[in-house]
Amino acid sequence: MAIAPSYSGKSQPWQYATIRTLFWELTKGVMYLQTLHLRNFRNYRDQFVDFTAQKTILIGNNAQGKSNLLEAVELLSTLKTHRTSRDADLVQKEAAIASLQARISRSYGVAELNAVVRSRGRRTFSLNGETLRRHIDALGTINAVQFSCLDLDLVRGGPDNRRNWIDGLLVQLEPIYAHVSQQYQQVLKQRNALLKKMRKLDRDGEVIPQESRQELLLWDTQLAAAGSRVTRRRSRGLERLLPLAQAWHRDISGDTEHLTITYNPNVSWTEDDPHKVQQAFLEKIEQRRTAEKHQGSSMVGTHRDEIDFEINGTPARFYGSQGQQRTLVLALKLAELQLIEEIIGEPPLLLLDDVLAELDPSRQNQLLDTIQSRFQTLITTTHLNSFAADWLKHSQILTVEQGRLQNFS
Ligand SMILES: Nc1ncnc2c1ncn2[C@@H]1O[C@H](COP(=O)(O)OP(=O)(O)O)[C@@H](O)[C@H]1O
Ligand SMILES: [Mg+2]
Repeated sequence: MAIAPSYSGKSQPWQYATIRTLFWELTKGVMYLQTLHLRNFRNYRDQFVDFTAQKTILIGNNAQGKSNLLEAVELLSTLKTHRTSRDADLVQKEAAIASLQARISRSYGVAELNAVVRSRGRRTFSLNGETLRRHIDALGTINAVQFSCLDLDLVRGGPDNRRNWIDGLLVQLEPIYAHVSQQYQQVLKQRNALLKKMRKLDRDGEVIPQESRQELLLWDTQLAAAGSRVTRRRSRGLERLLPLAQAWHRDISGDTEHLTITYNPNVSWTEDDPHKVQQAFLEKIEQRRTAEKHQGSSMVGTHRDEIDFEINGTPARFYGSQGQQRTLVLALKLAELQLIEEIIGEPPLLLLDDVLAELDPSRQNQLLDTIQSRFQTLITTTHLNSFAADWLKHSQILTVEQGRLQNFS
């Protein structure tokens, strides 16, 4: 019995408890999500999940709750979900509060992470029973790399897709980046509000007060300071990721394609020195002063950074087939897994949402070979025929139906 409708912790038969303890003993020392308990989260009313194998396959028809379950793990891992920015969407329709509770073993011990999400109001996080005053302290408890069929937007979509992607990775590599990036967003928002106010005064033919001009100079400095932290970290992260992604890409494409990833920051700089980078920001802000005045918003900064993927010298978004774009995304995801493992020292979780069916057999094998038993993996699928028999044998298979999980039989 892998699943109990509600967690009591008492009613396990002893054999089961022993097997489970043994399994947990074996997974000690690496990151392992042991259990997850969702209440009023999306279409789950009250669902306890016990992850009894390194690989869990969630099988079910569309709109049953497969992606919702991965989303819960993503939320606990990154404090964000790629599907919504509104907490109200996460809470079950008739409820006001959702709770997510995870038990995770790490090299340093077992952690209990708890999140309460409200349809109105702030979230609450607690770690090992203690409420976290700063939410970002919940980051780093669970590391996960998500790979879904939507990820082709990384190649085809606008630059914000790629900025969100690198930012998401950086948060996992160094949780403090969440704070850095938040600070930048705050400065940007306030600076934009001021620019807008100044533009309005100007348009109304009024004189812009001296204080506003002074205030803008203050925001310039702050934008340069926060922006310099963001751009330097993005650059370093991409630099470390590049050789890994290139190696994977070479492997998957059978040596025929060469991948380059180029970071094109809106404010360019050459020397990784905080003062020089800030100076570059201030100079560019000065150059764009008049344009910003007309536009009424910030035209200089890391919110305009671009990351370019090129295959054999051609921008990937214009290059070749969907299959080639999938190869690129797959290479990026495998590189992320590897980089997080290198830096954190433990293999992250891998969340595969509907992607297996989208990959051709050779790319599927590449992915499955890489995962092997190295990464705890949660996979959603509508059918099992893409999986090798050996894989199925070693996986926990759960069916998902209307927000309820059951052992597959
Ligand atoms: N806040 C919510 N409350 C109740 N049901 C929800 C909520 N958000 C999403 N759902 C339901 O979840 C289902 C979609 O789940 P999802 O995990 O995306 O499906 P899939 O199994 O195809 O991955 C839909 O039926 C949707 O109505
Ligand atoms: Mg889905």
